[in-house]
Amino acid sequence: MGTAIVTGASSGIGRSLARRLAARGDAVALLARRQELLESLAKEIEESGGRALAIACDVTDRDAVREAVERAERELGPTTLLVANAGGGNPTDAAQFDSEHFAFMFDLNLMSAVHCIEAVLPGMLERGSGHLVAMSSLAGYRGLPGAAAYSSSKAALTAMLESLRVDLRGRGIDVTVLAPGFVRTKPKKKKRRKPFQLELEDATARMARAIEQRKRYYAFPKSLLALIWLAWILPPSIYDRLMSRVGGKVPRMGAPGPRSPRDGT
Ligand SMILES: NC(=O)c1ccc[n+]([C@@H]2O[C@H](COP(=O)([O-])OP(=O)(O)OC[C@H]3O[C@@H](n4cnc5c(N)ncnc54)[C@H](OP(=O)(O)O)[C@@H]3O)[C@@H](O)[C@H]2O)c1
Repeated sequence: MGTAIVTGASSGIGRSLARRLAARGDAVALLARRQELLESLAKEIEESGGRALAIACDVTDRDAVREAVERAERELGPTTLLVANAGGGNPTDAAQFDSEHFAFMFDLNLMSAVHCIEAVLPGMLERGSGHLVAMSSLAGYRGLPGAAAYSSSKAALTAMLESLRVDLRGRGIDVTVLAPGFVRTKPKKKKRRKPFQLELEDATARMARAIEQRKRYYAFPKSLLALIWLAWILPPSIYDRLMSRVGGKVPRMGAPGPRSPRDGT
């Protein structure tokens, strides 16, 4: 087992996946902005006999990511696995179309992964081995209503990884895109579940298996995936009619975040 870098490890999917990678024997570098949450996870992993390093880092900041990866590799060893999971999304209001909102979402969901890959890939190429994993979303398959920025940023992330996968063929580096549907990452507030929603531990157990098996692409759950495939073969006029009827009722896919940097965090 080697060194895994997991971004967005302070909460939700990233936190759970980092625990699973540590349990299989990887030394894990935990990246996110909330230091105390990272420290508490690192402590928990160390107490169960694993190795972990908490590194507070804003993944939209290229230099900060480079420094974080350098530190992780110095203290834990060369990166064998990158899980670029940090991300999130908030609804796009078409009536208040705002480029800052889009720039923010692309920085968070696309450029963050680009920064991480830029930092780990030269070493992987030199060693002729490594595994790049990114957290996309089923929301990247189609432009969902109210999700212009989120859907397009996840579609871009998937396409970027797909191109890389082909370009890196034969160089010893595997590429995996994870594309979950709805995952419940916070304790239940409302009784109403999102369609085909998975519980966090079930979802991350599936993702950890897909990583282990070095799958190229893992989109799930299959039931929601089937509906999305169906949406692909619908003529656009029918898609538009159906989607505008459900419109604002389509639940947001992915983690909530501010609309733009002006909104805080
Ligand atoms: N939950 C779902 O239904 C679902 C479905 C499909 C895809 N996804 C994707 O899964 C990933 C994880 O989401 P989640 O559901 O687990 O939500 P979450 O609990 O809100 O996790 C988001 C993680 O990203 C980190 N993050 C956000 N902005 C960051 C930044 N600028 N720099 C560094 N870290 C940052 C957060 O840490 P800090 O706040 O501490 O920085 C947090 O650890 C996201 O990419 C999301 O789009 C989620």
